[in-house]
Amino acid sequence: MSIHIQIQNIENSRIDSVDFNNLSFGKVFSDHMFVCDYINGSWQNPTIEPYGPITLSPSAKIFHYGQSVFEGMKAYKDADENVFLFRPDENWKRLNISSSRLMIPEVPEDIFMEGLKKLLEVDKAWIPTSDGSSLYIRPFIFASGEGFHASPADNYRLIIATAPSGAYFAGKVRVAIEEKYARAANGGVGFAKAGGNYAAQFYPTQLAIEKGYHQVIWTDDNTHEYIEEAGAMNVFIRINDTLITSPTNDRILDGVTRKSVIQIAQDQGISVEVRKISVSEVIEAAKNGSLKEIFGAGTAAVISPIATFGYQGTDYDLPELTESFAATLKRQITDIQTNKTHDPYGWRVQV
Ligand code: COI
Repeated sequence: MSIHIQIQNIENSRIDSVDFNNLSFGKVFSDHMFVCDYINGSWQNPTIEPYGPITLSPSAKIFHYGQSVFEGMKAYKDADENVFLFRPDENWKRLNISSSRLMIPEVPEDIFMEGLKKLLEVDKAWIPTSDGSSLYIRPFIFASGEGFHASPADNYRLIIATAPSGAYFAGKVRVAIEEKYARAANGGVGFAKAGGNYAAQFYPTQLAIEKGYHQVIWTDDNTHEYIEEAGAMNVFIRINDTLITSPTNDRILDGVTRKSVIQIAQDQGISVEVRKISVSEVIEAAKNGSLKEIFGAGTAAVISPIATFGYQGTDYDLPELTESFAATLKRQITDIQTNKTHDPYGWRVQV
């Protein structure tokens, strides 16, 4: 059964003011957004309306107790103007997993998928085609219900906004292995895409930036001995020809790019170990030459190779490989996403 979405079209499109050949990440927004409210116990009034400011009460609980979750997705357009999403069901499921942890009501699949697909139809012209670009999609839900009482809100709003975007990182990425702060703890919300998880990263990341790094490699909150994530991405470490990544748990996001990388790598015979990996193992491998690559994996950055990492005052440079796992896996995943190759997994979904 299909849902009824009311569409209010923009009067004057802003698209002509956008330079689609020089896109940065997430800075210009498409003409429309999808909006749906949770009121009186149900999601209702799905609309597509012009992208723009929204009105909220100062006592909306999002401002006080941070009840907010989001997703990151991308839409791609091939040479024949066909539009594709990548594993969108994974994002819908994870949005609801995040929501449940934050006491936000789950969104039914038809509202999420039909709203998203209709939005992409309305703003199809905003999906860029230049190499490395895509339409970044940001679904998010926040507590719009009012009250200063520290308890879940009554009302929520789901918005899906989109931004034609280029690369998330430019240039060589330098990261610092975190020795003091943590992004997540056992029993906490690290596995959820809760807005507050990212806010909590800003201060330690700023300290790393002041020391000449771009991002932080997160270590476990208890001992800081184990590598967990890189910035806002999952992290992979290649020692000799084995790719290692942490298992998902309370503290680690179950990344869609992460699980796709694991699958593609395994299917082409790369040995993948999903296990804890200690900082000392990485330092040892850097010293004896068996550390070949470290890369982050996430929707926004896709696969982002790390050039240098710092730990306890020493910088370690990763070798510059001509045919790295990072480059090969990135090409394979983006070729599937953009319909340049056969998709043996059924991950690519035509809109
Ligand atoms: C993504 O990779 O899509 C994310 O959600 C990370 C975000 C902080 C850009």
